[in-house]
Amino acid sequence: MGAASAAPEEGHMGVKVAVLVGSLREKSYNHRLALALQRLGPPDWEYVGVRIDEVPHFDQDLEDDAPDSVRRLKETIEAADALMFVTPEYNRSVPGVLKNAIDWASRPKKRNSFAGKPALVAGASTGNIGTAVAQSHLRMTLAYLDVPAMGQPEVYVKFSPEDLIDMEGNVTVPDTERFLRGVMAAFARWVETVGAGRVAA
Ligand SMILES: Cc1cc2nc3c(=O)[nH]c(=O)nc-3n(C[C@H](O)[C@H](O)[C@H](O)COP(=O)(O)O)c2cc1C
Repeated sequence: MGAASAAPEEGHMGVKVAVLVGSLREKSYNHRLALALQRLGPPDWEYVGVRIDEVPHFDQDLEDDAPDSVRRLKETIEAADALMFVTPEYNRSVPGVLKNAIDWASRPKKRNSFAGKPALVAGASTGNIGTAVAQSHLRMTLAYLDVPAMGQPEVYVKFSPEDLIDMEGNVTVPDTERFLRGVMAAFARWVETVGAGRVAA
């Protein structure tokens, strides 16, 4: 990343972020939150959606000669400098579809695609605790996978009102927009501090 003396804008330059959204629902609140975070982040960052919906159920028998969808998943993550996980909470944990994709990308054993990449963990829910338990479970997995996830600010979004964030990622409540802008500013500092991890361990 840029030298310590560089202007903040220069330090952010060229950061490519792989975005993993834990919901496949068409009007997903988490998809909208992911878009909002992208809109409010550094203007020169690039975002690539990770197709967690394309991979089959994890099967360890296949990991050494993985299906093309898994290869693409791993390549997308490995080409990124940083990671954004934006996920609902399902039954107080991480949705299976996201965990399944994480399991694929973490394998084979010495080809963990996530290793060393700074991450943002965020989530939106209709419930009062705004995905806090799911995020806690996810953070445990990410720690094991050697992913330095930003600790603060935590991003627990209770999705209310129904149009809090529209389908293009526009935030309708000014306080929420301000908060999310601050989250991305903190994440930019985190990426700069940790350093962007391009190489898989
Ligand atoms: C299988 C399932 C389990 C759920 N479990 C929780 C939960 O543990 N905590 C919570 O706050 N909301 C829970 N919800 C409600 C979700 O917050 C809500 O469906 C939300 O809209 C999902 O995110 P999405 O809009 O990005 O798809 C659950 C929903 C489903 C479908």
